[in-house]
Amino acid sequence: MRFYEPVVAARKAKLFEGLHGRVLEIGPGTGVNIPHFPSGVEWVGVEPNPYMRPFQERAAAKAGLRAEFVVGSAESVSLADASVDFVVGTLVLCSVEDVSAVLREVRRVLKPGGEYRFIEHVSAPEGSWHARWQKTVKPVWKFLACGCHCDRTTWADLEAAGFDQVHYERFELPFPVVRPHIIGRATCGSGL
Ligand SMILES: C[S@@+](CC[C@H](N)C(=O)[O-])C[C@H]1O[C@@H](n2cnc3c(N)ncnc32)[C@H](O)[C@@H]1O
Repeated sequence: MRFYEPVVAARKAKLFEGLHGRVLEIGPGTGVNIPHFPSGVEWVGVEPNPYMRPFQERAAAKAGLRAEFVVGSAESVSLADASVDFVVGTLVLCSVEDVSAVLREVRRVLKPGGEYRFIEHVSAPEGSWHARWQKTVKPVWKFLACGCHCDRTTWADLEAAGFDQVHYERFELPFPVVRPHIIGRATCGSGL
């Protein structure tokens, strides 16, 4: 991630503009996104790996954010319906067991008018040499990268998840396997 963060920093700064209120971050890992969040945000992180917590605590303390650390999975979030203003996730839907269940939870916890803001690496276009390359290395990649799927068609899951609107752009980063990415927002008009 040492190489990854500098190349996405400008995109993240823009993506996280205007976050306010209670913000749920799914799969925050070491808390790399925390420095991008505006002060005043009330941050809740849901992360299955308990060893990430000290890193998240340090990042939140440094950023001066009020923070709540939840050990759990994004498929089943222990927050009430319509209880957060934003959900944030970066490079998480590649790793979860059940993308549709996570997106259902995202919609459930978002307040009406709330937004899910995301960056995900995704599958290369079907039929391209890069898509074939992703399929070839997928098993090894999954083993080495802690369960990460390098070739998910995450945009299709987002479009099928029942959000009122989904806006995303594709972009590429100079990495051999996880090159194609999407960045965007999904909005919840009236909740579930
Ligand atoms: C590639 S890391 C990304 C971490 C961070 N979001 C970033 O952008 O660097 C994937 C993260 O998702 C977490 N994760 C895996 N399965 C998850 C799940 N079912 N629910 C929530 N987080 C999950 C992992 O523990 C890990 O912290």
